[in-house]
Amino acid sequence: MKSPAGSEATEARSRNPRFDVPSVMRLTELADIVVPFAIRVACELRIADELADGPRTVDEIARSVGADPRALLRLLRALTARGIFTEVEPGLFGHTALSEPLRDDHPLSMREAYPLIPADIQAWSRFDVSVRTGGSAFEHVHGQGYWEHMAERPEEAHRFDGTQRAATRLELRTILPAYDGWATIGSLVDAGGGNGAFLAGILRRFRDTHGTLLDLPHVVAGADEVLRAAGVRDRCTVVGGSFFDEIPQGADAYLLKRVLYHWDDDHARTLLSNLRSAMRPDSRLLLLEPVAEPGDELNAGKLYDLILLTMAGGGLRSLEEIEALLDKSGLRLARVVRTMMFPMMEIVPR
Ligand SMILES: C[S@@+](CC[C@H](N)C(=O)[O-])C[C@H]1O[C@@H](n2cnc3c(N)ncnc32)[C@H](O)[C@@H]1O
Repeated sequence: MKSPAGSEATEARSRNPRFDVPSVMRLTELADIVVPFAIRVACELRIADELADGPRTVDEIARSVGADPRALLRLLRALTARGIFTEVEPGLFGHTALSEPLRDDHPLSMREAYPLIPADIQAWSRFDVSVRTGGSAFEHVHGQGYWEHMAERPEEAHRFDGTQRAATRLELRTILPAYDGWATIGSLVDAGGGNGAFLAGILRRFRDTHGTLLDLPHVVAGADEVLRAAGVRDRCTVVGGSFFDEIPQGADAYLLKRVLYHWDDDHARTLLSNLRSAMRPDSRLLLLEPVAEPGDELNAGKLYDLILLTMAGGGLRSLEEIEALLDKSGLRLARVVRTMMFPMMEIVPR
């Protein structure tokens, strides 16, 4: 039995914030490195597709995906603890709301959003370098920039493209309905438009619009297939080149989605000035990316900002910083349209 003095000490400890066990437990959850990797391995093995027709035993899944049954059981049980998959009965696993979007055939499939890209993981292992120096850990580890690295490694570039495909599915769903100006755009240049998935989504919806996709040659190499699959190949010109060299002239609108934040101020100014030179006096530029905001709230950009820092050495800018860059590039912000994901800035020549 505890002495009265002993129970007083226990009570005092529970009142002392230094013994706030729930906060320490919460911290342990936040610092976890296991779940992000467990999700990625489940995506890599396409576990979610295996459960498309209903719950299956771990032995069946293991046979089908080529995994060790005991190791797979451990993986799945760890994920169920975070609400991803459910153990319907011992050894039998099914889907939950969080695991469904990991299926390849899900309309908002996120399977490709969480890839295992060795070069990225190596860069994260030196994230401290980014925070100490403000520079890219990726460059520190690999001795070259992110885009140069990807240009030389088709397998990794394909995985990176997968993350963009997943993001684009979500963005088409959330950004497209938020802007009332799409229908008035006859010609649209998507600068740094990746493999054309977002542009294809716009062209599918707006049948009178002609698109031009501009991205690096190895990136637009995959665009033909994407544009054909969407049935819009005949309304889209594909240009393999650098937006630092030349941008197609005289379109009604230019799109720059999740591109500017990759670049430091000098490069960003050059890119914006190139766009300004390509624009007619009545053209508009649609800048789509998260904006830096003060305060404690979690928004679409706050964590992504650190991915930019680690991988590219870039980062989010505040609206004021973006306006200052526009000002130096002969452009001005006309309005900001809020979307579910991040703001769309409508920009016009000054
Ligand atoms: C984060 S991705 C965004 C892709 C697309 N806009 C989207 O939102 O899905 C940045 C894109 O910029 C492209 N990029 C990088 N340097 C470029 C350059 N010099 N000229 C054209 N595109 C470039 C990359 O190849 C990549 O597709």
